[in-house]
Amino acid sequence: MKSGRATRREFVKASAVGAAGLALVNPGSVYATPANDALALGIIGCGGRGNAVGRALVAAGARVVALHDLFDDRLAETRERFDKMAEEKGQPRIADALLFKGPEAYRELLAAPVDAVLITSPPYFHPEHFEAAVEARKHCYLEKPVATDVQGARRVESAGRKGAGKVSMAVGFQSHFAEPYQEMVRRIHAGAIGELVCAQTYYYADDLKRKATPGMPALEARVRNWVFDRVLSGDILVEQNIHVLDIVNWVLRAHPLSAVGTGGKKARLDVDTWDHYNVTYTYPHGVHVSFNSTQFKGSYDSKTQRFFGTKGYAEASFGKGGVRIVGEDPWEAVVEEGLKDSVARKAAAFIENVRTGNLLNEVAGGVESTLTAILGRTAAYEGEERTWDKVAGSNARWKEKLDLRSLATGRRTS
Ligand SMILES: NC(=O)c1ccc[n+]([C@@H]2O[C@H](COP(=O)([O-])OP(=O)(O)OC[C@H]3O[C@@H](n4cnc5c(N)ncnc54)[C@H](O)[C@@H]3O)[C@@H](O)[C@H]2O)c1
Repeated sequence: MKSGRATRREFVKASAVGAAGLALVNPGSVYATPANDALALGIIGCGGRGNAVGRALVAAGARVVALHDLFDDRLAETRERFDKMAEEKGQPRIADALLFKGPEAYRELLAAPVDAVLITSPPYFHPEHFEAAVEARKHCYLEKPVATDVQGARRVESAGRKGAGKVSMAVGFQSHFAEPYQEMVRRIHAGAIGELVCAQTYYYADDLKRKATPGMPALEARVRNWVFDRVLSGDILVEQNIHVLDIVNWVLRAHPLSAVGTGGKKARLDVDTWDHYNVTYTYPHGVHVSFNSTQFKGSYDSKTQRFFGTKGYAEASFGKGGVRIVGEDPWEAVVEEGLKDSVARKAAAFIENVRTGNLLNEVAGGVESTLTAILGRTAAYEGEERTWDKVAGSNARWKEKLDLRSLATGRRTS
């Protein structure tokens, strides 16, 4: 494994291996390849999600050829996983020269022979990584949220405009690919619950695992525990709860006009992020949406959306609660879990769209959902009603700019 740069010789060698065995694309061209060629994928941020979505993309026809992370253990574990999958398929292992470590090394991954990148780094880095990936003309699967502040969301929006029609750009909201959700939304839009009156949505969740260990340098500990850091994650509302707000925007075909909110820390005091939020959003036509969330040990666990209309209501849960419409035009999706297979379906759609040239562009929706979450967070942090126009139009950004340079010279790779 290389710390930082691969040497020119190693890079050329790896490129030659790639050129012989993989479906490659010249930077600047729109990828098109016969259906039996594997899409060459690079992963930026090799954690839980990078491995999970990476697996789904491999199952759908990609081959992981390059990895980028800040830490040796993440690169090693991820490499082992994808090498094993490659061996099972009779494909070559990831070349040493295509393992990239260090805050700037994602640029080298983007210069390597990869057709597409999966961006699963912490949200703070998404604008930087996405901009560079689009600039390098790579198809992108960018995890949500697209950013942690307004300025970052606008950077992603503008990069999305540059990439439109040139590369496929997916944003990690898998619910749109869950069949029960698709059918529920189709029925609501067709009038199954009448005129929408109000809605309720919540994301109640348990605590998350601490990934920093005792004795770790402070910056490394902060990055490992990014999910508990407001600047790096955007706080629980933007980082995690955003899924349910994204679904509200999808159903209402709009973003909220304003929000009032509260929240804070009461149960989980050892980290920076809040442990609960209560926000009321006002959407066009006076539709009020109540949103609640928790994230602490022992909390009730449920992720639900409920839409109340003049002819009935629709409700859906990510887990076992089911998806249904109750009222004058009832319907029940007979499913074990609302979101079952949604990641696999999204991954398959991503690969298929790249193959056929029917490029996916989910950037505008991803930006709108991120700004929706930031609006609720701002209203709650500031304890006053905040409008979409003011918050989304503010270009606000976190004051702090993270400097990762001291990590680059950290522990040596094997
Ligand atoms: N769609 C979903 O349901 C879903 C589920 C989980 C996570 N996510 C999203 O996926 C992303 C990653 O989450 P995760 O759970 O995999 O976190 P994680 O901590 O498990 O993984 C993040 C990885 O990124 C690496 N990293 C940190 N800073 C980096 C940088 N500057 N450059 C490159 N790599 C860096 C870390 O070392 C780590 O390996 C987040 O945006 C998260 O919100 C989405």
